[in-house]
Amino acid sequence: MTTKTLILTFAVSTFTMAAFAAEPDISKLPPAAKKAGVTFDADIKPIIEKSCLKCHSGEKPKGKFRVDTKENILKGADGEKVVEVGNSAKSGMIHAVADLVADEEMPPLDKRDKYPALTKDQIGLLRAWIDQGAK
Ligand code: HEC
Repeated sequence: MTTKTLILTFAVSTFTMAAFAAEPDISKLPPAAKKAGVTFDADIKPIIEKSCLKCHSGEKPKGKFRVDTKENILKGADGEKVVEVGNSAKSGMIHAVADLVADEEMPPLDKRDKYPALTKDQIGLLRAWIDQGAK
């Protein structure tokens, strides 16, 4: 291997690692619930109201993300979508509640005494809701 090739190889692998580091490891996600016909009103609203609503509602919702209605959840955080309808594994909201991305854990790590992490079953229901079309 010439020095030039070595340098190039190093540069490419460093770049690749950086690119992968930015991607959340979706293999760590709890599986979607098997339940059919998951809806916002019946299944999701109770979870959101208990664990997210307090911070993500009112005049100045945290992260400019409102969770008071299904429509607002689908609008996203400050105009950026956090739910990719039909694909929970690619949805930022799921990455956040599953603690996949450092500094974007939801509820925030330092507030977990009052707002505990969602359970695997709750995350599974959120995933099923998104995968089934966010009805
Ligand atoms: C104790 C307050 C609090 C609670 C409870 C809370 N959040 Fe957040 N959330 C925040 C804050 C603060 C931000 C802004 C963080 C930032 O911009 O770095 C935020 C930002 C977000 C974002 C924007 C993108 C991101 O990941 O930073 C999403 C999505 C989100 N929250 C989802 C949720 C969900 C879903 C729940 C309920 C399971 C929840 N949050 C509960 C305070 C909270």
